[in-house]
Amino acid sequence: MGSQRKSIHGQWSGRLAFILAAAGSAVGLGNIWKFPYITGENGGGAFVIVYLLCIAVIGLPIMMAEVLIGRRGRQSPINTMRDLAAEAGAGGYWKWLGWAGVLAGFLILSYYSVIAGWALAYVFRAAAGMFTGLTADGVQSIFHDLIGQPERLMAWHTLFMVMTMIIVARGVRGGLEKAVRFLMPALLVLMLVLMGYAWNSGFFEQGIDFLFRPDFSKITPNAVLTAMGHAFFTLSLGMGAIMVYGSYLPDRISIARASVAISIADTAVALLAGMVIFPIVFANSLDPGAGPGLIFQTLPIAFGHMPYGAFFGMLFFILLVFAAWTSAISLIEPAVAWLVENRGHSRVNASVVAGITTWLFGLL
Ligand code: TRP
Repeated sequence: MGSQRKSIHGQWSGRLAFILAAAGSAVGLGNIWKFPYITGENGGGAFVIVYLLCIAVIGLPIMMAEVLIGRRGRQSPINTMRDLAAEAGAGGYWKWLGWAGVLAGFLILSYYSVIAGWALAYVFRAAAGMFTGLTADGVQSIFHDLIGQPERLMAWHTLFMVMTMIIVARGVRGGLEKAVRFLMPALLVLMLVLMGYAWNSGFFEQGIDFLFRPDFSKITPNAVLTAMGHAFFTLSLGMGAIMVYGSYLPDRISIARASVAISIADTAVALLAGMVIFPIVFANSLDPGAGPGLIFQTLPIAFGHMPYGAFFGMLFFILLVFAAWTSAISLIEPAVAWLVENRGHSRVNASVVAGITTWLFGLL
């Protein structure tokens, strides 16, 4: 059974396109930057098990619900909430839930795009061999140098937002779908190449051990909350991103099966990222609990001391940029869809307006 509505923005060409797009939204900085460092901070294996449980028991059902609502409404989350609430005889306040999502998306993207800007900057720093032979101090000073130069940061942040706007401006089929059809397979290939690299680090087993051998004495109530919050973040839930992608889902496709595939893909990338990062961390006696700086302030030390480190370091940061890019487009799509529906903007205009608004938030 399908909905009677049709999206004015078009539809995914099929099941695979939707899975790639939603997995593209889900797989992002959350998987490659955040998951490894919170796992490191919370002691490894036991935290991973709690996280997997949260994905299966909380994340997956909520994802299915969000896709379902999106496909029913076939509009931006704001209008979908308004119309579905009206149909159910509920009040007009429901649309504010959609607004809350759009606002939260802006807030997330405003810092998300700044960190993606760091990743972009690091692609070039790694490629130029700037990390070669550096000690921890040297890598720190590169990081602080970047952070301490607002103009530089702004330039990278701007470039990333422009990249995001270009994709979104091209529309559902010609922009979003085309981008994920290239970027997601590329991401997987990069991941596997880096995995081979970690395999050869001589510390692969130690990395696996850290990720998968549970020590439940390390689980605190706080760790459980962190795992739960991260399950929402990593699956892109609660902000209308998955809902708007659901609004482009053709009727005949099974929501449950697609959601399972998306959750598995997202989880696989997070675990793969852990399997790439922790062996490198241990091989260089770095601290797995280093916090948010883990991949920017510690991994470059490792790349700087490994054979072909400049090349693999560059690949790693390209991977990070690709992952962030496919997530960023899902963070502004709800706002863009609303601007087109309610303000009569063209997609190009809507993308520019939404992109610049986020960019301004990001400057703060
Ligand atoms: N899931 C992405 C990540 O793991 C981030 C993200 C994209 C997101 N869209 C979202 C988070 C919507 C919450 C809501 O990096």
